[in-house]
Amino acid sequence: MKLWSGRFLKSTDSFVDEFNASLPVDKHLYKQDIEGSIAHAKMLAKTGIIADEEASQIVTGLETILKEIEAGSFIFDIADEDIHMSIERALTEKIGPVGGKLHTARSRNDQVALDTRMFLKDAILEVGQEVLALQEELVKIAKREMDTILPGYTHLQRAQPILFSHHMMAYFWMLRRDFTRLKGCFKRADVMPLGAAALAGTTYPIDMEFVAKELGFSKISNNSLDAVSDRDFVIEFQAAASMIMMHLSRLAEELIIWSSSEFSFIELDDAYTTGSSIMPQKKNADVAELIRGKTGRVYGNLLQMLTTMKGLPLAYNKDMQEDKEGMLDSITTIKNSLFGMKGMTSTMKIHSEVMRQSAEGGFTNATELADYLVGKGVPFRDAHRVSGNMVRKAIEEGCWLTDFSLEEFQAESPLIDDEVYDVLDIQNAVKRRDVRGGTAPNRVQEQIEKAEKLIDKGRKWLDERGK
Ligand code: ARG
Repeated sequence: MKLWSGRFLKSTDSFVDEFNASLPVDKHLYKQDIEGSIAHAKMLAKTGIIADEEASQIVTGLETILKEIEAGSFIFDIADEDIHMSIERALTEKIGPVGGKLHTARSRNDQVALDTRMFLKDAILEVGQEVLALQEELVKIAKREMDTILPGYTHLQRAQPILFSHHMMAYFWMLRRDFTRLKGCFKRADVMPLGAAALAGTTYPIDMEFVAKELGFSKISNNSLDAVSDRDFVIEFQAAASMIMMHLSRLAEELIIWSSSEFSFIELDDAYTTGSSIMPQKKNADVAELIRGKTGRVYGNLLQMLTTMKGLPLAYNKDMQEDKEGMLDSITTIKNSLFGMKGMTSTMKIHSEVMRQSAEGGFTNATELADYLVGKGVPFRDAHRVSGNMVRKAIEEGCWLTDFSLEEFQAESPLIDDEVYDVLDIQNAVKRRDVRGGTAPNRVQEQIEKAEKLIDKGRKWLDERGK
């Protein structure tokens, strides 16, 4: 019999039981549901709404159910509809009618908001761990590869030489912003909604501060309608998750390109690649491709949730039950993708010689020639033209800029002297980008030092929240 069967004459159609149920998804929130109920029961006793003895029976019953679920012996019945009613039914079966007192001064509407917020807070901390772990790996690579130069690209055309460390650190900073976005999500999920009851608040003399403290919430909702109506905290998380995936997909794409035989900048480890069932020579970057591909699912989850919430009248509507599946999916997907990316980057082999050769070609030093002439008082536009002319000549002759004799340079501009060869050297080109955020080794070093401090700060933030 349904816990709410009182006003019904007929039982629900078996199709409706299935269609209406969220149990297959929200059973993952069992721990939060039980912890929330324990805090609620204690509060009911503390405020004298139920007797101490009744609360302790309820708490003991809930603790037993927690153990049963964790041992795998708890029987989930789809007819219970959701995790909240599964647990409440099991409680009453265990401890008798006193179990029915647990739901005093509470509704599933504020209960589900509470559980979801608790679950997401935990998940954000876990995702945060993975973000930090990947950031740590990138910094480690950056420190190790300070001598590796590769071409930086725009439009996927070789542009200017940069340090491989600088390239890795670019992803560090993207992930840094992702981490702060997660912190923001955490802050806004960290609001205790229990007490809103169905929508209007409760008539019982509850103690919301007590419940918030028991459950580790730092704030309490200011409006009961808002507390049970909004899922903006889920959407915000989906947006942060999408951004993480967008960043990872770009790195994944670069790893795929770099590991192609046409580039050969890196080789992915056997442990992070797969073979082909037909072509014996193949070593495919499947993990990177899956990270790139799974980005689409996470974007989908964001769009789904934005669309589900659009235009819903206040307060709770059953549409909102659709919030959890995508949330769970995005959590798993970003955790796995961050983890996979860390594994791939930590095991990849860097072919620094190939990178260097590529950086020496492709006229990545053409800007150097222009800047050199600017140093001699030539306006940048004119210097740009001189360098462009030299590049065109080189292409016609099938050589690089450094292959020209001094006479050939001077034919284009008499201001050029033999220091031009030093100027065109890619290592010097890198060193010369000695500006904040530039690719000069001392500036990359500066970034690494900042990054290490930020990683420590991030760790501390997680530690303070028990992760
Ligand atoms: N299973 C529901 C959900 O996940 C719980 C809240 C249901 N409340 C209600 N009045 N039907 O959203």
